[in-house]
Amino acid sequence: MLNKLVWRKSDKQNRNLQERISDVTGELVPKHIAIIMDGNGRWAKKRAMPRVAGHHEGMKNVRKITRAANAIGVKALTLYAFSTENWKRPKFEVEFLMRLPEEFLASFSPELMELNIRIAMIGEMDSLPEHTQKAVKKAMDDTKNNTGMVLNFALNYGSRSEIVSTVQQLVKKAQDGEIAVEDITEDCISAHLMTKELPEPDLLIRTSGEARLSNFMLWQLAYTEFWFTDTLWPDFDEHSLLDAVNDYQKRSRRYGGLKGE
Ligand code: FPP
Repeated sequence: MLNKLVWRKSDKQNRNLQERISDVTGELVPKHIAIIMDGNGRWAKKRAMPRVAGHHEGMKNVRKITRAANAIGVKALTLYAFSTENWKRPKFEVEFLMRLPEEFLASFSPELMELNIRIAMIGEMDSLPEHTQKAVKKAMDDTKNNTGMVLNFALNYGSRSEIVSTVQQLVKKAQDGEIAVEDITEDCISAHLMTKELPEPDLLIRTSGEARLSNFMLWQLAYTEFWFTDTLWPDFDEHSLLDAVNDYQKRSRRYGGLKGE
């Protein structure tokens, strides 16, 4: 009897999810959603579990949210999985986090192909452990011809360092006479960032009640709509994503101009 009730409840919730998904699809779906996945540690602490258990649960949630974003027609989903500052964490935790891409990509690969999803990465690849690099490069290569949503991992990523290295590249090009100083425009800078192949994010989500950017896509987020929630990342489900998208659809984006311009 209990089983039946549980089944009925989840069946109803599923139907409700399908309806919500069809309601949001269309013109106003954000093309690019970026997420700061925060709160894994607190999720684990609440359950008297080690922090890494929270990260593992967080990894499982990436799958769920990737499917949901794909289902509503998002073109790019960027997930902040490891910042350049995260190296300061205990060695054990860093090593655990560096194993997650392998586990995730190995188990999710067949579905990524089925869903036509392409894996991309922003961040400093060279200083990642060999095994992490190998897994990410393989997934990028395996999915390189997929034409659907881009699942972009920010791994060993820091926005200030991305901007510094872009400025260095452009100064070098100017010194070498490849470009004129006047050629260094906003578009030119955007075209040299690690995100050059992606549109700027329309919607930024940060979970766990923190309301800061933590060195994430500082240039790219200039006109992005922000959405913050107290929900911890492992608990952030498809309905939470749809709540964020529904709110986004009510926003009026003016890019500094006036409504209707
Ligand atoms: C911040 O939460 C989260 C991280 C530093 C890691 C995020 C990584 C994942 C969600 C998994 C990534 C998955 C793949 C496939 C690469 P926190 O630990 O700072 O949480 P707290 O603020 O509650 O301590």
